[in-house]
Amino acid sequence: MPQSLPTLCGSIMGSPFSLSAKIHNAAYAALGLDYTFVCFGVDDPVAAVAAIRALGVRGMNVSMPYKTAVIAHLDAIDEAAKVIGAVNTINNLDGVLTGYNTDYLGAVRALEEVCALHNKRVAVIGAGGAARAVVFGCLQAEAEVTVFNRSVERGAALAEDLGARWGGSIEAFAAESFDIVINATSVGFKQPQSNPLDGRLASHLIVMDVAFMPVHTALLLQAQALGCRTVAGTRMLVHQACRQIELYTGKPAPIDIMEQAMLQEIQRLKL
Ligand SMILES: NC(=O)c1ccc[n+]([C@@H]2O[C@H](COP(=O)([O-])OP(=O)(O)OC[C@H]3O[C@@H](n4cnc5c(N)ncnc54)[C@H](OP(=O)(O)O)[C@@H]3O)[C@@H](O)[C@H]2O)c1
Repeated sequence: MPQSLPTLCGSIMGSPFSLSAKIHNAAYAALGLDYTFVCFGVDDPVAAVAAIRALGVRGMNVSMPYKTAVIAHLDAIDEAAKVIGAVNTINNLDGVLTGYNTDYLGAVRALEEVCALHNKRVAVIGAGGAARAVVFGCLQAEAEVTVFNRSVERGAALAEDLGARWGGSIEAFAAESFDIVINATSVGFKQPQSNPLDGRLASHLIVMDVAFMPVHTALLLQAQALGCRTVAGTRMLVHQACRQIELYTGKPAPIDIMEQAMLQEIQRLKL
């Protein structure tokens, strides 16, 4: 199989974004590996997958908007990624490209740092790719999951597809019926003033936001002011990256160093 020197890993996405490179390169340095991670802004995901093969790229993250488009061009798809319908990680092992979804694991690992999910009543707000991963992960961890979404048809379809309950529009969310609420919409991402659950939280809830820029979103700030326990989107992000490091290097990920690099980069980007 073709090989690069140093070992090359990277990320393909619509427009290049530095965060993954900072997180991964910090991990490789801490592990003493001669690996380099590069962000590629691409407009042809199929050609990008061919390039992984031609250049011997060891691992490739996949970001918006290509998480579904790459699937048909890989050699194998992990079972969880198949059900979620999105690949965010391509692991090139001896020329065989396998697609994984590490977002769902990132969400579960981040939430389970705060409480066990088994039998918890979880409300997931949103029905896009991130929501699908979060719903799948929570169901795997044996939580009772209810989906709410602005677009009713899309939300109901997700719930039915994955075996969750359908709760209705976001306005139908009632705090007293849940132990945990997760914002898996894009509301709050690079929008420090936007909170999809403004005025709707209660102090008994564990509140998670998948939005990771800013680190302290308006939703998390309101939850903290009420005394809720919170899980930041950055924690999900670093945990999903840890799984990528495990796949690409076969070594345990240095999570503290990766988190520090991530937070420094978010600070540098000023959000
Ligand atoms: N922390 C992490 O590790 C991590 C990992 C992956 C993604 N993310 C983040 O997750 C977020 C969602 O990504 P995605 O890929 O799921 O996006 P997506 O597929 O475009 O889905 C967007 C979701 O947000 C909802 N939405 C958008 N604008 C809204 C508004 N004004 N009011 C109410 N709902 C609204 C959409 O509702 P409709 O169906 O009604 O349009 C949909 O449910 C992004 O911010 C992304 O950065 C975080």
